Amino acid sequence: METAKPLACMNCHSTKGDGAGPLGGGLIPPPRNFTCGTTMKDIPDGQLFWIIKHGSPGTAMVGFSGQLTDEEIWTVIHYLRTFAGSHGPRGGMGHRGPRGGDGCCAQPERTP
Ligand code: HEC
Repeated sequence: METAKPLACMNCHSTKGDGAGPLGGGLIPPPRNFTCGTTMKDIPDGQLFWIIKHGSPGTAMVGFSGQLTDEEIWTVIHYLRTFAGSHGPRGGMGHRGPRGGDGCCAQPERTP
């Protein structure tokens, strides 16, 4: 799964998926923290798909429709879901929760 082309993404979202990538620092709003299960479980797959494909207007998140096929976008989504440590909204286990517990949703400190 590490080969699922998260390359450009990781400049902003970081290799850990926590939004603290090298380019993520000065952005408003900051890149999404994919490690936050509480945030991620409220975002449906369809929304993730749309934003990866078309971008999020008014943010630094640009669309990747020219670079990724629909299939590749789904692969990326599955990969993003792994950061939250669960299997997404329909994972079944409800409160198993992400690693790190409830405090994980704060945007991480930026250490230059
Ligand atoms: C230039 C920096 C940048 C790059 C490169 C980038 N993103 Fe983002 N991304 C952002 C920012 C900023 C946001 C926050 C947007 C918001 O809060 O609405 C975001 C939000 C998202 C979201 C959350 C959508 C939602 O509903 O909140 C997803 C999913 C995402 N990015 C996936 C990706 C993927 C996959 C890639 C690579 C194919 C990528 N991003 C590349 C900056 C970036």
